[in-house]
Amino acid sequence: MAFVTRQLLRSMSSASDPATAAAKKIAIKQVTVIGGGLMGAGIAQVAAATGHTVVLVDQAEDILKKSRKGIEDSLKRVAKKMFADKPEASSQFVEKTLKNLTVSTDAASVVHSSDLVVEAIVENLNVKNELFNRLDKFAPEHTIFASNTSSLPITQIANSTSRQDRFGGLHFFNPVPMMKLVEVIKTPMTSQKTFDSLIDFSKALGKNPVSCQDTPGFIVNRLLVPYMLEAVRLYEKGHALKEDIDVAMKLGAGYPMGPFELLDYVGLDTCKYIIDGWHDAEPGNPLFAPSPLLDKLVEEKKFGKKTGEGFYKYK
Ligand code: 3HC
Repeated sequence: MAFVTRQLLRSMSSASDPATAAAKKIAIKQVTVIGGGLMGAGIAQVAAATGHTVVLVDQAEDILKKSRKGIEDSLKRVAKKMFADKPEASSQFVEKTLKNLTVSTDAASVVHSSDLVVEAIVENLNVKNELFNRLDKFAPEHTIFASNTSSLPITQIANSTSRQDRFGGLHFFNPVPMMKLVEVIKTPMTSQKTFDSLIDFSKALGKNPVSCQDTPGFIVNRLLVPYMLEAVRLYEKGHALKEDIDVAMKLGAGYPMGPFELLDYVGLDTCKYIIDGWHDAEPGNPLFAPSPLLDKLVEEKKFGKKTGEGFYKYK
């Protein structure tokens, strides 16, 4: 009975009065980030740096150790820029940020105090569903769940929980501390209150949020991935050198990186995973056609910068 009354009051209060609705938004202070890879660590870093209390979760201590080291290194780069002539302020910023950040290998035991759980784990629907289904039982009622997936439908991930109204997409970009954009994804089930809370959270991180429906690739990847694949096709056909294509797009279109540099930076495995998923869904779409060269490099485990070789070689 109490639950029904609470639900009724909630729906009445969010009905028409924007001031009341705004007041009901969740003020996100405590954040759990699941996944200690590049994206998860980046999200944890910016959240901690902007005064949130953050727990970064991954399965193994050694992964978390590596994540923390990566965060420290990145924070020092950020601090050097922010406090150019003030080394004391710079180290205070790093110290304060790290104080806001703890790590854990047990997601279920830390989500009880979270306002927001952001997931940035492997791009596998079953694994994500299993995770969220489990956390749904441990997280408080008000907690918002969000996925940083770059290619899977948010709706299908949200359906593994009983809180589809408190579930949305929060898509960040690599390197998270530098890239100003966050795509905030609203599924047909995401409540306005959840969406507004995610927009406010993105702004609190110092990011510029844009909104998008739950459509494959959202905005950026839907444009960026076919563009990068088109560059590979140009190169595969022998129409231009990859080095020249990179220079052309940097100097002729003002991109900070050329498409091959960016492919190596994002990870060839990630790009292949995205394009293969879209190709399966729409085999006739030439924009989503697989690339034999990309497939070959991935098969050879040349994933780009992270493995030391992709289209280019790295020290
Ligand atoms: N952490 C902190 N600071 C960083 C950083 C990081 N990880 N990376 C770069 N910086 C800062 C540092 O201040 C650095 O100076 P430093 O070397 O003295 O510390 C400064 O940026 C300059 O960096 P670089 O000299 O390495 O090179 P650039 O000037 O080219 O900047 C870049 C690097 C910001 C990565 C820029 O090249 C860029 O914007 N590239 C495009 C990235 C992009 O498009 N990302 C989106 C990919 S798509 C995606 O992520 C979606 C996913 O779903 C696939």
